Amino acid sequence: MEKKWWKESVVYQIYPRSFCDSNGDGIGDIKGITSKLDYLKELGIDVIWLSPVYQSPNDDNGYDISDYQAIMKEFGTMEDFDEMLAAAHDRGIKLVMDLVVNHTSDEHRWFIESRKSVENPYRDYYIWRPAKDGKEPNNWGSCFSGSAWEYDPETEMYYLHLFSKKQPDLNWDNPKVREEVYEMMNWWLDKGVDGFRMDVISLISKKPDLPDGVPGINGYASFNEPANGPHVHEYLREMREKVLNRADTITVGECSGVTLEEAKKYADSDGSELNMVFQFEHMDVDADGTNKWSDKKMDLRDLKEVLTRWQKGLENIAWNSLFWENHDQPRSVSRFGNDGKYRETSAKMLATCLYLMQGTPYIYQGQELGMTNVPFERIEDFRDLDSINAYHELTGQGVFSKEEMLRYLRYKSRDNARTPFQWSDEEHAGFTTGTPWIMVNPNYKEINAREQMSREDSVFHYFQKLIRLRKEQEIIVYGTYELLWPESREIYAYTRTLGEKQLLVICNFTADQVPFKVPEEFLQGEILIQNFRDAAVNENMTLRPYEAIVLMR
Ligand code: GLC
Ligand code: CA
Repeated sequence: MEKKWWKESVVYQIYPRSFCDSNGDGIGDIKGITSKLDYLKELGIDVIWLSPVYQSPNDDNGYDISDYQAIMKEFGTMEDFDEMLAAAHDRGIKLVMDLVVNHTSDEHRWFIESRKSVENPYRDYYIWRPAKDGKEPNNWGSCFSGSAWEYDPETEMYYLHLFSKKQPDLNWDNPKVREEVYEMMNWWLDKGVDGFRMDVISLISKKPDLPDGVPGINGYASFNEPANGPHVHEYLREMREKVLNRADTITVGECSGVTLEEAKKYADSDGSELNMVFQFEHMDVDADGTNKWSDKKMDLRDLKEVLTRWQKGLENIAWNSLFWENHDQPRSVSRFGNDGKYRETSAKMLATCLYLMQGTPYIYQGQELGMTNVPFERIEDFRDLDSINAYHELTGQGVFSKEEMLRYLRYKSRDNARTPFQWSDEEHAGFTTGTPWIMVNPNYKEINAREQMSREDSVFHYFQKLIRLRKEQEIIVYGTYELLWPESREIYAYTRTLGEKQLLVICNFTADQVPFKVPEEFLQGEILIQNFRDAAVNENMTLRPYEAIVLMR
């Protein structure tokens, strides 16, 4: 297998609004990030993925961009950005920008022009359609509730927005749009950024006839309907030639609705498109059919089936990215582990289970502390438009009661990942001296970076060790994966193999004691890492709640 630095790297995602506030306005900012680079260096990560910092009216916290070449005022200035980039590079840390080009903000200059008239030179930068039988052109839903079409009285036509109505979709079939995007990307590369995480890049190419899809619980077809459209690979290859090949970049496509077969094209190791994709099948194991709003617990066998299919499916063909969390997902320890008595143990177990697979690890801010979901009480506690819109839509339609919906939000809302980073036990978790834009998780007195950095057996130090191990043991990066014991509902066990070497990863996903028979060839193995201080390996072991052990032979 071909060796690449981006396969050997660990990426850390920063959600700037919630990371660190330097000026007391309650909103995280770029200077705040710069002040914490030493913390990230100590953790040992190689690359930062920065969620959007561009100028934006913040309908969707920066994922609605009104100027791709300016910095959001609340986050600072372009000078602050340049300083941060230089300071990261000084520490050997690379920086990946979030590229949000499926759509812009409706306040972007292009859209302001586009909506003026059908003759406007920017008209064709977006997707406009006349009404069909006096209604929306098709039944597509927005990711954030309601129809994906907004009627614009100015020209009496509808525009498409797969996300909020303040996020109109760009028309990628227009070569001028593509040229503008490539030019802008090149401008950032010239500045010295190291790559791009591409927001919902699987959605950029729509079928020309925009066919209806199957309606979901709110009556609309999924926003994922256009996923993997007819020209998406052609456009990414063009981007590869006109932009990405100019530098040694790292690229990851957020590919909602991607299948394994499609991923092989997006992340083909021939280097013609992207380095890797984010796929979401393992984020659906606790969905209720196609509906994410549920508090169903996953069946471990489903998780193993999905992750194993992706591990084996991309082997020697493409490359996986490994994530439990990001700014769109609840906290993994609350979702797949245990955020009560076994919080630390299960946070370490989850990290062991995922980050010893083949692929590039992504850590979301706070995950390295085992930060948990948030005890939001009322709908007013939420800030995320996805959560707020879904609450009103689904309770309004009588699909769920208010109590039910609040329960689901507490479990699944994106805001669980967006509360301030817990730096210390000081007021507002040391995130700000002002009033934070969203509530702080009240557990910050107990769960915070300062405490964990001072304690040897903390989740932080465990992540640090896991990251170090990746650098020392090639097998963790390049070894092949084999699942053991697929039918167990309690244990996730697999091996990695590289040449003569082999790893055995054993993880107990339950709060119970579970017997495990260690394969004979590993009985004399060395313990590479474990989340209990003492573990005796013998043929018939009893794993303790959320225990994880990695053996090497
Ligand atoms: C992606 C982002 C999400 C955003 C959406 C629209 O899924 O990760 O946060 O709301 O795209 O840009
Ligand atoms: Ca600030």
